[in-house]
Amino acid sequence: MKLLSSWLTVIVTLGTYVAAVPQPVSHRVKERVVAPNDWVKLGRAPSDHVLELRIGLPQPDIHLLEKALYEVSDPYHERYGSHLSKEEVDELAAPHPESLSAVEEWLASHGILESDFTRSSAKDWVKIRIPVELAETMLDTTYHVWGHIHDGDAVVRTTSYSLPEHIHGHVDLIQPTTMFARFKGLKSTLIWSSDIQEEISYPGSSLITTPSGIQVDPSCNSTITISCLKQLYNATGYNSSATNGNMLGITGYLGQYANIMDLQSFYAAQRPDALNSTFKFVSVMGGLNSQNLSEAGDEADLDTQFAFGLTYPTPGTFYSTAGSPPYIPDADTPTDSNEPYVDWLDYILSQPSPPQTITTSYGDDEQTVPLSYAIRACNGFAQLGARGVSIMFSSGDGGVGDGDPDPTTQTCFTNDGRNVTRFIPGFPASCPYVTAVGGTVNIPETAVWFSGGGFSNYFPRPPYQESAVPAYLNALPNGTYAGLYNPYGRGIPDVSAQAWNFSIVYQQQTVKIGGTSASSPTFAGFVSLLNDARLSSGLPPLGFLNPLLYTKGLAGLNDVTSGNNPGCGTEGFNATIGWDPVTGLGTPDFGKLKAIVL
Ligand SMILES: *[C@@H]1O[C@H](CO)[C@@H](O)[C@H](O)[C@H]1NC(C)=O
Ligand SMILES: *[C@@H]1O[C@H](CO)[C@@H](O)[C@H](O)[C@H]1NC(C)=O
Ligand SMILES: *[C@@H]1O[C@H](CO)[C@@H](O)[C@H](O)[C@H]1NC(C)=O
Ligand SMILES: *[C@@H]1O[C@H](CO)[C@@H](O)[C@H](O)[C@H]1NC(C)=O
Ligand SMILES: *[C@@H]1O[C@H](CO)[C@@H](O)[C@H](O)[C@H]1NC(C)=O
Ligand SMILES: *[C@@H]1O[C@H](CO)[C@@H](O)[C@H](O)[C@H]1NC(C)=O
Ligand SMILES: *[C@@H]1O[C@H](CO)[C@@H](O)[C@H](O)[C@H]1NC(C)=O
Ligand SMILES: *[C@@H]1O[C@H](CO)[C@@H](O)[C@H](O)[C@H]1NC(C)=O
Ligand SMILES: *[C@@H]1O[C@H](CO)[C@@H](O)[C@H](O)[C@H]1NC(C)=O
Repeated sequence: MKLLSSWLTVIVTLGTYVAAVPQPVSHRVKERVVAPNDWVKLGRAPSDHVLELRIGLPQPDIHLLEKALYEVSDPYHERYGSHLSKEEVDELAAPHPESLSAVEEWLASHGILESDFTRSSAKDWVKIRIPVELAETMLDTTYHVWGHIHDGDAVVRTTSYSLPEHIHGHVDLIQPTTMFARFKGLKSTLIWSSDIQEEISYPGSSLITTPSGIQVDPSCNSTITISCLKQLYNATGYNSSATNGNMLGITGYLGQYANIMDLQSFYAAQRPDALNSTFKFVSVMGGLNSQNLSEAGDEADLDTQFAFGLTYPTPGTFYSTAGSPPYIPDADTPTDSNEPYVDWLDYILSQPSPPQTITTSYGDDEQTVPLSYAIRACNGFAQLGARGVSIMFSSGDGGVGDGDPDPTTQTCFTNDGRNVTRFIPGFPASCPYVTAVGGTVNIPETAVWFSGGGFSNYFPRPPYQESAVPAYLNALPNGTYAGLYNPYGRGIPDVSAQAWNFSIVYQQQTVKIGGTSASSPTFAGFVSLLNDARLSSGLPPLGFLNPLLYTKGLAGLNDVTSGNNPGCGTEGFNATIGWDPVTGLGTPDFGKLKAIVL
């Protein structure tokens, strides 16, 4: 773990430190939640269990960062493409010096010194490792071990915590406290080779013609390969550069290892010219890189094979972030860390030159992430976008529901204490500063039935959706799903791509796999090729994509107008002409998009 600070000011004088003998401090509740329905209290947390507490300090200038992000991402703005430097972003995300010192004094009063903490690049986060016993005193709370009713996972959490009155204004949030989210890989189903039907051969048969007039091999209607995607999305024959500075990043979590032997076998089958090439591995917070074949991850294999296969020879990086280990109550697990996105964000925001395109296929129900935390993680994506990074996230695999594959347990109840039925949007897809990617199937393309879509209950509709989303909502029959979704929320997804029957090599077997975890690396692959074209023409990278996609970019997307995304006992939303909460604006036409962005 890196110490991200060279800030050595010693704020605590000897006098105040000595005076910090236990004094009654009045605490006031900072945050209180109702535990999600799937979690039950198992017992008190062991007092010596070590928590890695992350303290978020307020970012008073974040609105200026947001303004800058929109300006540099708006293709009609004079600042378009003038992305911010790391230093400029850090300055706009920095806390007020008074907050820095107030938090430091508070920590010092509990014996925690500067040398005991790590800071993020913008100093907007402080991390400390302390035992439950001390956290309970500092936060005037009680930690419990909570168990998940379906899979038995356990975490150490609380449903409310408090802060001394004078610290309230200097802290946005502290986690892990009230956060029950677990970031799942968004894969649906793995079809083993034994169950894969023989490809019907179509000797001399006619190609399939898409509505836009593109011709595709008939086999692509049931099995997706690199070649199929290049045909379907109109990129056949485009060659990217290995040396123009373009890079593509994939994030991996939860012990998902990208296996290099699997990648080579995949390349042998689908991208022979890429054989012997590989990606750069980066460990974040101690993320591991097992190359033991029986520990290969299906999600990691899918992401690396398709994203890197689509973009070879563009240099690729795979980030393996540790964290979120399920807490096993009776094992001596040293820490019980938070969800790892913000750990990854801390890492990537500290880097001088992150990849221009990054894809992530992990997420969870928005409502399991406390609002305060969702806002801060989302601000982190804005910081990255302002620096010129295009960020793709899978939109989720539960249609309008919570992704529970068993409809009888697919409850769709709110955990805000009201326990009412409501559609369940996913996070980080619901963050307005990322590009959320939904799913399609078959050719001609139709919405895949599980494509995560709907409306955020946390984030209001962003300016770039001001005409596309009302156009959809106004065409809904009056009263449709009233009360089940937030018509003023950020609409999900923004775009889509194929999501089913991807042929990958997993543990040396050819299998088919699907999920919006296939569509995000796919869309990201084409975005990376667009960035390649931009860089080769001496232009800056695309950065945050959405303001472009909803305007000029529209003409380079294939609208998907059939299919729907059932969930929560409903048929979900319909894919329609124009934007819809199933397939967004549609799937990429690389050739057309390239002409638009050059
Ligand atoms: C929410 O309501 C449902 C249906 O009435 C019920 O089964 C469930 O136990 C309730 N959950 C909570 C946490 O009250
Ligand atoms: C592709 O497969 C779907 C589902 O099986 C089918 O409805 C469709 O007609 C097929 N497309 C073509 C062009 O054959
Ligand atoms: C996906 O592949 C399976 C197994 O080969 C096949 O049975 C199925 O028809 C395919 N699904 C679609 C939608 O093409
Ligand atoms: C891409 O590379 C291939 C193989 O070297 C070559 O045949 C093809 O003409 C190239 N395409 C373009 C557009 O340069
Ligand atoms: C990959 O490496 C093998 C063994 O060194 C070599 O025979 C083969 O030609 C290489 N393939 C490519 C595409 O570079
Ligand atoms: C590979 O991983 C499997 C499963 O975790 C384990 O049983 C096996 O011992 C490992 N093999 C080696 C060589 O480490
Ligand atoms: C819904 O109702 C409003 C006013 O109540 C009306 O203006 C609008 O046209 C209706 N929309 C549809 C699609 O029926
Ligand atoms: C979806 O389309 C079907 C068929 O046209 C229609 O009956 C249904 O009301 C539509 N649902 C929504 C939510 O628009
Ligand atoms: C495919 O891309 C080319 C540019 O490379 C463009 O001229 C053409 O219109 C696109 N084709 C279709 C059918 O979208």
